[in-house]
Amino acid sequence: MQKFLWPEMTMGVCYYPEHWPRALWESDLDRMLEAGITRIRIAEFAWSKFEPEEGVFTFDFFDEFLELCGRKGMKVILGTPTATPPAWLTQKYPEVLNCTMAGVPYRHGGRRHYNYNAPKYRELCARIVEQLARHYGHHPAVVGWQIDNELNCEIWEFYSEADAEAFRIFLKEKYGTLDRLNEAWGTVFWNQTYTDWAQVDVPRQVANQGWNPHLRLDYYRFISHSARSFCRLQSEILEKYKKPGDFITTNGIFGNLDNHQMMEESLNTYTYDSYPSFAFGLDRSPRESDDLNDRKWTRNLLETRSVCPHFGIMEQQSGANGWATRMEGPAPRPGQLTLWAMQSVAQGADFLSFFRWRTCTFGTEMYWHGILDYDNRDNRKLAEVKDFYRKFRTLDPLCGAENFAAFGLLKDYDNVWDSQVDVWHERIAWKSESEIFCASELCHTPYDLIYMRDDLSVETLRKYPLLFYPHPMLMNERRAGLLKQYVAQGGTLILGCRAGTKDMQGRFVMLPQPGLLQELTGTDVRDFTFASPNEDAVRMDWDGRELEVPVFNDILEPLAGTKVLANYRSSYYAGKASMTERRLGLGRTIHYGGTFSRELVEALLRYAGICEPFAAEIEAPPEVQLVRREKGGKHYYFALNFMDTAREIALKRPMKLLYTGESCDGVQTLPPFGTAVYEVG
Ligand code: GAL
Repeated sequence: MQKFLWPEMTMGVCYYPEHWPRALWESDLDRMLEAGITRIRIAEFAWSKFEPEEGVFTFDFFDEFLELCGRKGMKVILGTPTATPPAWLTQKYPEVLNCTMAGVPYRHGGRRHYNYNAPKYRELCARIVEQLARHYGHHPAVVGWQIDNELNCEIWEFYSEADAEAFRIFLKEKYGTLDRLNEAWGTVFWNQTYTDWAQVDVPRQVANQGWNPHLRLDYYRFISHSARSFCRLQSEILEKYKKPGDFITTNGIFGNLDNHQMMEESLNTYTYDSYPSFAFGLDRSPRESDDLNDRKWTRNLLETRSVCPHFGIMEQQSGANGWATRMEGPAPRPGQLTLWAMQSVAQGADFLSFFRWRTCTFGTEMYWHGILDYDNRDNRKLAEVKDFYRKFRTLDPLCGAENFAAFGLLKDYDNVWDSQVDVWHERIAWKSESEIFCASELCHTPYDLIYMRDDLSVETLRKYPLLFYPHPMLMNERRAGLLKQYVAQGGTLILGCRAGTKDMQGRFVMLPQPGLLQELTGTDVRDFTFASPNEDAVRMDWDGRELEVPVFNDILEPLAGTKVLANYRSSYYAGKASMTERRLGLGRTIHYGGTFSRELVEALLRYAGICEPFAAEIEAPPEVQLVRREKGGKHYYFALNFMDTAREIALKRPMKLLYTGESCDGVQTLPPFGTAVYEVG
């Protein structure tokens, strides 16, 4: 699909005309425009307004609203309303409902209660989308389309009969015969062998949660396939009717979904919904506790940028979040609304739309606060949105700018999904990714996420002098070959424990580990273990530094020609290699036997000579995030203070503060939650 680029920094808001008396519409639009809001996203939950009864379509309500938008000069992103099917639909066609794992349908009343595979739902969705597209495709106020709302949000597993049926079709296409499926899933284990396709099902409640991991891996692939095909169904219709130049998007980012492929097949641009105060939520899992609070939302933005380099934010948090049934984070404190919005812009968003214009006075989300509160008066949040807009537009020169990355972090969906079915894998993957992020932040060395996909080329990889691919347990010849090319052409590849141990079905390979990667690492892993919780932390020595080797330990035996960088210094494998380096062609592979700690990541970045790439131009304490976007030979530095107290940063040469146009040099003070964007060059 052709990619859409924002021509200038553009601000929007989510608005629900159906939630408010008509008498408010005009003043709402006037106040939005006065604040700098020129785009609104509407209608994504309004199916009943368009089709109050089956097959009866009425557009009067939204015609009237869009006519007003046209008059006022407000531009509209129209949502397809398929995330909330109407009550008449679920009553008449209960097969469209998603179910719990036990097969019990979700009833009408929440949202996303449908499944992607029921033929009836697909038919009725195609019809409502076609009706909308035909009616509004040429409307002058419409500039874009959002498909559904947050595909795979809240519920990302599907257990209806329609899904079970579609899963069997998916598997028949993949394996052809039951024999091949039985082989791929190792069904001989625990007598799971299938003799009839009708026995094959989506994962169900099984004794002791002893699911077949290979079945579940294919099941996640299937969910992704289903969500993508549901999106494609809609985008094909929208494409037929939309005006040239109008875009098709959806808002994410959620799991069990190959967002990259969905983008390629069905979307012109991608948008992310950013709610950083989730980081302060009451139900933070312990594994997330040692992170960098709201700054870690940057990780989601990196994911989004990897899907679509010039993305937008469809929903940017503007108030406290919560449902009638859930308490989430507190209200953004003064300055945080701008800080969080600038965090998005720093990572590549050129469109930023707040959620939502005004808090709803009723319904499940009456605590999900918008810019305006229930009383509808001007307030501090609206004042901050206006101030943000003034700053945002001074960034027009960098609209479309690329993000600088000192290194790359490789991921792939097969390993992500395997880590969902294999908790050993999950533990190591989660820890390493989180620590790589923390290290990169603390030493101001930004990175890109790169997904290992079939079309990934060595040229793309060569843009990065160094790549972490922490724990690619699932590996195949093609991927190993690409990594070999990258290294041979001069790259530094860093692999962690468990790399190369499985095939693409998630089964262990009967090869010396790290399997297909052995030629690259020049190591043999004959022994491996979880770092025992009953002993002191396992450590290693590297060049006089003592570093922990947390979570898991592969004990490395160097093959001829492989250099040992570090040895374990405790446990029964004290003195054995924990980290090695092997040269191949112009590059090298560093094989490390553990999960990564932030100290080790920083040490490796220094070892490779790529740490703190901005130091000659700008310096900041670790509490301040530094990001660089680049365009036309110019550097644009974002300095974002995530602390509630002031911080100093040092400019090493004169730079233009874009917000004011003034030239700055030397020490600058960022107020609590303060932001600045400097142009240099
Ligand atoms: C988003 C969703 C919105 C709204 C918001 C607050 O995930 O797209 O529709 O529900 O959260 O819950």
